[in-house]
Amino acid sequence: MTHVLDGNAVGDRIRDGLREGIDDLADAGVTPGLATVLMSDDPASETYVSMKMKACEEVGIDSIHRELDPDAPAEELFGTVEELNDDPAVNGILVQMPVPDHVDDREVLRSIDPLKDVDGFHPENVGRLVAGNPRFKPCTPHGVQKLLDAADVETEGADAVVVGRSDIVGKPMANLLIQKADGGNATTTVCHSRTGDLAAKTREADIVIAAAGVPEMIDGSMLKEGATVIDVGVNRVDADTEKGYELVGDVEFESAEEVADVITPVPGGVGPMTITMLLYNTVKAASLQHD
Ligand code: GUN
Repeated sequence: MTHVLDGNAVGDRIRDGLREGIDDLADAGVTPGLATVLMSDDPASETYVSMKMKACEEVGIDSIHRELDPDAPAEELFGTVEELNDDPAVNGILVQMPVPDHVDDREVLRSIDPLKDVDGFHPENVGRLVAGNPRFKPCTPHGVQKLLDAADVETEGADAVVVGRSDIVGKPMANLLIQKADGGNATTTVCHSRTGDLAAKTREADIVIAAAGVPEMIDGSMLKEGATVIDVGVNRVDADTEKGYELVGDVEFESAEEVADVITPVPGGVGPMTITMLLYNTVKAASLQHD
C-alpha cells in the first residue's frame, strides 16, 4: 500500500510542540512576533500572507502586517524593514516574494536583520546553511525533511534527485540532503530545465523531490518502484471550478501513486509544512533574541 503523507497531520503535531515552546517563552514574559510585509496585489501572494497570519494566531504568535502599494518607491519598503528590524516586539520578518520589478529583491533580503530572517534567505543565513551550520533552515525544504522523517524515510545513503534549482526550494533542499546530519547524507543530484534526460535521473532515485513549478511534469513511468515522491509544486491550472482554476503539483499523482511507496498529495502535503516551519523559525528567533 502506498503511504500518502498527510502534511496537515504532521504539521499539527509539530504545531502542538511549538505551543509548548510558546508557553515557556510566555513564562519569561515573551510573546513571539512575526511581521509579514506584502508589496504586491497578486491574489496568490495575498492568500499566502493571510494563511501565514492565521497560522500565527492559532499557535499564539503575534502577527504584525505591513502592506505597501506595489507602485510605491523602493525606499518605502526599505524603511519598513528598518523599522521592523528595530522593533523588539518583532522577532521574525518575512517580505513576501516576489516584490515589484523596480525593487531589487537581493537588496531586500540583505536588508533584513539576519537574526530575524525566518525565511533563511539572507546571504549570511544561506552561507551558514551551505557551511553545515544552519541558523534558520528555509521553510519548505525543512518541512520536506520533517515529512521524510515522519514517514521513516531514510535519507542516509539514499539516491535523491531534486528537480528544480530555485533559491527558495531546490538549492537549499539539495544542501540539506548532502549535510552530514540527520535527514542528510544522501547522494544528491539536482536536475533542472537544461537536464538532458530527466527521466533517466529520476528513475534511479530512491527519493524524488519535485520543485520545478511545471504542472504534472513527473509521472509514474519516470519513477523507480518503491520510490518516495515529495511534490513541492503548487500550480494553478485552468479548470471548470468555481474559482476557474485548480491546484496541481509537479507530479501526476494517479500514475505516480501506482509506483511509489510514499507520496505527498497537492494540496495537503508540503504546503501545510512550509507554514509550520515558518512558525518554528519564528519561535526559534524569539528564543535566540531572548537568550
Ligand atoms: N514567495 C513564495 N514562497 C515564499 C517564501 O517561502 N517566503 C517568502 N518570503 N516569499 C515567498
